[in-house]
Amino acid sequence: MVAVLVAAILSVVVYTAISVGINPPSNVERIDPKSLHLTGEFAEHNLGTSVAADGAITARMVATQFAFVPRCIALPSGKPVTLRFASPDVVHGLLITGTNVNTMVVPGYIAQVHTVFTQTGDLLMPCHEYCGLGHSEMWAVVQVVPEKEFKPASDGRASCEKR
Ligand code: CUA
Repeated sequence: MVAVLVAAILSVVVYTAISVGINPPSNVERIDPKSLHLTGEFAEHNLGTSVAADGAITARMVATQFAFVPRCIALPSGKPVTLRFASPDVVHGLLITGTNVNTMVVPGYIAQVHTVFTQTGDLLMPCHEYCGLGHSEMWAVVQVVPEKEFKPASDGRASCEKR
């Protein structure tokens, strides 16, 4: 009887997950936490916002005890953007206030979020997973500017304006 109930519940879960298209929030991409800052995608010169030749906008940040690097990323509103995060130390989490962006950043994996910002302004992005004594000091800013004002440099990189 119990087995039948468990099977029935599981089949409902699987059916609704498939029929409504529900899946885990992130893709599964592994990254070595011990070397991610030295070479590759999350090396320092690759962090921040960059616009690819095909126009794809990607922002990369390292979440580390106890800061996001860089402290601010610039992005346009009204366009699809991809955010990618990696941690070299412990589990962090983040949300961007006023948006649907909310993810964990687990060492060993790249956390990826696709979104479109509908508002502009300096949005606070705190760490929301207790990561140590400096947890409450760990936050960043996402500077969302109107699409017309988003002007990456000739190398495709965009950084925050001082205000
Ligand atoms: Cu990082 Cu809390």
